[in-house]
Amino acid sequence: MDTQEILALALSLARQKEVPADTEIHVPARSVQKALFGIDVDSGELVLAKQLGYDLVISHHPTGGSAVLEFPKVLAKHGDILVRHGVPRAVADAAVHELQEGRWPEAHRENYDRLPSIARMLGIGFMCIHNPCDEIGRRVMDETLRAHLPPTPRVRDAIDVLYGLPEFSEAETRIELRMGALDNPLGSWAVHHGAGTNGGFPVARAAYEHGIDTVFYIHIDAGQLRRLHEGFGLEGRKNLVVTGHVASDSIGINALVRELRSRGVRVDTYSGIVDV
Ligand SMILES: [Fe+2]
Ligand SMILES: [Fe+2]
Repeated sequence: MDTQEILALALSLARQKEVPADTEIHVPARSVQKALFGIDVDSGELVLAKQLGYDLVISHHPTGGSAVLEFPKVLAKHGDILVRHGVPRAVADAAVHELQEGRWPEAHRENYDRLPSIARMLGIGFMCIHNPCDEIGRRVMDETLRAHLPPTPRVRDAIDVLYGLPEFSEAETRIELRMGALDNPLGSWAVHHGAGTNGGFPVARAAYEHGIDTVFYIHIDAGQLRRLHEGFGLEGRKNLVVTGHVASDSIGINALVRELRSRGVRVDTYSGIVDV
């Protein structure tokens, strides 16, 4: 496979027609036999991969170029998730706007060509596949919950169901309830993943104020969490389940890795991937 075919495979698994803004081929590679896949990739690891004879390094997190510069665009997917769960479009758009406002200056500041330039000098294939993997992961989490939740579930039931996914049972992190109570009714719930990064305070607030009782994030910053506690109560009726960063990222990554391996590409994983 070449890098274009690998990207096309990721998109088809994610049921996406367009390449998301946070996903990019930095250095194309033809006929990839051996690929190294990590959640985060740095310069030393590109050298290591070259020394070990890999044709291609795939990073999950954005590594440069437009994947970094245009990253805030992907946050708009939070708006689509909110709308699919009944939040009015104007409210969802306002939450996305608030998220993006905080991110554009950061994206603009980035050294977007550091890692791609190193890969070019080394002559090694290099790409990042971010949102397609996260979208696959979001769908797996969503479908797993739908398929296995008991009637009138409590929050603890949802956490138990998610532990049925091997990435969660084998990770070194646990699924944490950061707000609410295990015995609360799960109520109306939504998995807010596959949209760049977590939706922080703005997305969770939009959800809680428009009928969603339980939000699933894969990670959250302490400052954003504090604002949620202030707004909705540490042990109130609204629940925030945080599933764990690398464990959750691994779900979508593993789905792609399995498909690549079945097509004859040797894929080795490192840098946090819970390879189950
Ligand atoms: Fe991710
Ligand atoms: Fe991530």
